[in-house]
Amino acid sequence: MISLIFATDPNHLIGKDNDLPWNYSEDLKYFKAKTLNKTVLMGLETFNSILSINGKPLPRRNLVVASLEPFSYPNVTVIDDLFKYLKQPHEEEIFIIGGKTIYELSFPYADRLYITHIKKEHKGNVYLNFNLDEFTLVSEDIRENLIFAVYERLK
Ligand SMILES: NC(=O)c1ccc[n+]([C@@H]2O[C@H](COP(=O)([O-])OP(=O)(O)OC[C@H]3O[C@@H](n4cnc5c(N)ncnc54)[C@H](OP(=O)(O)O)[C@@H]3O)[C@@H](O)[C@H]2O)c1
Repeated sequence: MISLIFATDPNHLIGKDNDLPWNYSEDLKYFKAKTLNKTVLMGLETFNSILSINGKPLPRRNLVVASLEPFSYPNVTVIDDLFKYLKQPHEEEIFIIGGKTIYELSFPYADRLYITHIKKEHKGNVYLNFNLDEFTLVSEDIRENLIFAVYERLK
């Protein structure tokens, strides 16, 4: 199963340069709870951005990084053919964790979406093109500043 997990504001903003436009600890906790001990797939830009912000890759996840360039990092699986990977049968839930390029390329393969809807508009420069026409809302947790929503692809 392929799942995308991302946070977005009402204008579909997801990034500011190579970082997030906001800092909601609730959302970081949610992200951690969903992805801990799971396989997470990200583009090289997102991998490098996490590395420069945290000084290390995301701990306690099975890390997969998509790159068309030769790249290697200890304990990271590097894939150069994203579509081949997405089309393979995956028994476990694979979490796509960004960024813009990898989300948009993976969107047609997504079975489930974990979207954190940030209620307030923010400033930034990276927007995600997506629509939810082929998805149905399966759960919603409404908080003061954000909404944790889960969608599944219509059969
Ligand atoms: N709001 C959120 O939840 C959230 C989460 C994560 C990230 N973000 C934001 O997303 C932004 C970064 O997005 P981005 O688009 O610049 O980078 P990205 O999606 O993290 O990485 C893009 C990289 O993926 C590789 N790639 C592209 N097509 C591929 C393919 N077909 N097969 C294998 N690898 C492929 C390329 O690597 P090479 O160049 O090495 O070939 C490309 O540079 C940042 O602003 C970040 O803050 C937001």
